[in-house]
Amino acid sequence: MQDFLEWAPSGSREHRLACKLRPSRLPRHIAVIMDGNGRWARERLLPRAAGHRAGVGPVREIIEACCRLGIRALTLYAFSVENWKRPKAEIETLWVLLRRYLRKELPELKANGVRFQTIGKVDELPTEVCDDIDNAILETAANDGMRLNVALNYSGRSEIVEAVNALLRTSHGHIEPLQVDERSFGQMLYAPQCGDPDLLIRTSGEFRISNFLLWQIAYSEIWMTERYWPDFRTTDLLEALLEYQRRNRRFGGLPEPPTGPARGRVSVRRTLLSVAD
Ligand code: FPP
Repeated sequence: MQDFLEWAPSGSREHRLACKLRPSRLPRHIAVIMDGNGRWARERLLPRAAGHRAGVGPVREIIEACCRLGIRALTLYAFSVENWKRPKAEIETLWVLLRRYLRKELPELKANGVRFQTIGKVDELPTEVCDDIDNAILETAANDGMRLNVALNYSGRSEIVEAVNALLRTSHGHIEPLQVDERSFGQMLYAPQCGDPDLLIRTSGEFRISNFLLWQIAYSEIWMTERYWPDFRTTDLLEALLEYQRRNRRFGGLPEPPTGPARGRVSVRRTLLSVAD
């Protein structure tokens, strides 16, 4: 957080927004559904690939901002299992952009102590993409800064099914009823060391989860913006963080007791509302 405040020019919107944040209440893990590249391009009468190209800048910007803010893990949804339904040329553009990003940004990621990893069925990607991914994972493996997860060929349902199969394999068919609990099951998912996302951001005004981190977002705070991903900026991230800090995370429990004098009807109503949460 201090790093961010020293880096953002004093008086800039970034600096003013960051000053309002409470460092002790930042999310540990942020997940982002980057959406709207295609619509961004269409509105400019450009091919869809131009939208994806324009989406790389915000990827770079948000990774840097999260590092400077001291976020522990950032998960970006870059390609879903369902995205294979898209035209071959569009998919190939995405691999080119990913490979170019990894090659160009690796020194910066290393310098910032970022640990790069992926979630999803990455071994099904073209060999040359796998090679660049493996190289980035290897080169950043010793870093202990922010964990950057890029979801590639990812599906939340597949992840859960894979975890079930992994459990069955490791138990050699001898799992007793009730032997698997939420903790042991969670350990079989792709990146258990990152913990569940505290905050899930989705761009482009869509109100969908799109098969993303289905298990892990059970209690994530969700923040949506109309902005298309190529237009997403650090200031949007800071707005999301400020909104996150205004939320009262109850995890199904009761709201924190009011600190001031009892407020009669208002506090009764809030308690009743929380029962349904
Ligand atoms: C969703 O927009 C976006 C994607 C499927 C790809 C995301 C890729 C990038 C941001 C660029 C490369 C990524 C990295 C990590 C370097 P959409 O195409 O579904 O948009 P639409 O809903 O408007 O059609």
